[in-house]
Amino acid sequence: IKTIGVLTSGGDAPGMNAAIRAVVRTGIYYGMRVMGIRKGYNGLINGDITEMSLRAVSDIIHRGGTILQTARCPEFKEEEGIKRGVAMCKVFDIDAVVVIGGDGSYRGAKDLSKFGMKVMGIPGTIDNDIACTEYTIGFDTALNTVQDAIDKIRDTAYSHERCSVLEVMGRHAGYIALNVGIAGGAEVVLLPEKTFDLGKDVIKPIIEGRNRGKKHYIVIVAEGVGGAIEIAREIQEQTGIEARATILGHIQRGGSPTVNDRVMASMMGARAVELLKEDISNRIISLKDNKIVDIEINEALDMKKEIDEEIIQLSKILAL
Ligand code: F6P
Repeated sequence: IKTIGVLTSGGDAPGMNAAIRAVVRTGIYYGMRVMGIRKGYNGLINGDITEMSLRAVSDIIHRGGTILQTARCPEFKEEEGIKRGVAMCKVFDIDAVVVIGGDGSYRGAKDLSKFGMKVMGIPGTIDNDIACTEYTIGFDTALNTVQDAIDKIRDTAYSHERCSVLEVMGRHAGYIALNVGIAGGAEVVLLPEKTFDLGKDVIKPIIEGRNRGKKHYIVIVAEGVGGAIEIAREIQEQTGIEARATILGHIQRGGSPTVNDRVMASMMGARAVELLKEDISNRIISLKDNKIVDIEINEALDMKKEIDEEIIQLSKILAL
């Protein structure tokens, strides 16, 4: 493999820049050319592609977002779009494409591979919802951003003896909600993976907490459950406890990546290139038992990830 293309796709995540940097520098170290493809698969289709030098990735390791920018690309779901992507790889002499993103982005990569392109996936999403890997780049930074917000909200909830309802990201996955629920000492955590009953799962633990002497409360609602404002209103009506809702939104996607995300992104980016150097492709870089491994792309896409019931149980016990 002489020339690698690299793109970021789907929702951005802190640490994507560190991964791009690792791909570029490792590629050049091994004598390859690295082409930056801008705005995900859109840039691939439209030829928004330029060669990246060692210095093109200077001063980005600490920056959130992605210097290559990202997009969701409906055209790439059609065969016509994929063929245009493959043709553009030929125009730019790209032998393999490194895709930094989530499951949806790997589906695009898999489609490219069906037309003979060599691909490699690196997990980048704040949601940590990619089945083949225990960790995705950006998760730790997002958790810390949410944690910082919970700590601030807890200060004011304490002062006013209120219940604060916080909506955190995760349209389909509750990993952010569950982890910050534990780290932030939430009374209630609502996850998209679990149906809930407002009376039994929200109102009851709050009232029982009050009976045990609690005076303020944190309720975490994952985006996929939604309705934080409505839930806050119900809590206030049914318990008499003043309640306020905060929707954190895209603040969770930005910011300087944590050390963990920078190191993970660097190691994963480098591993992707090392495999391509050995002419190994069509794999997803993953973390398994705290080691970096690689998994065949079809196998990776067939895998399922379950939310950990023990951690859900722990969050309930610790909220007593
Ligand atoms: O996949 C990351 C994520 O932040 C999800 O948690 C969220 O549901 C989604 O992206 C939001 O996407 P968008 O920025 O396109 O609205």
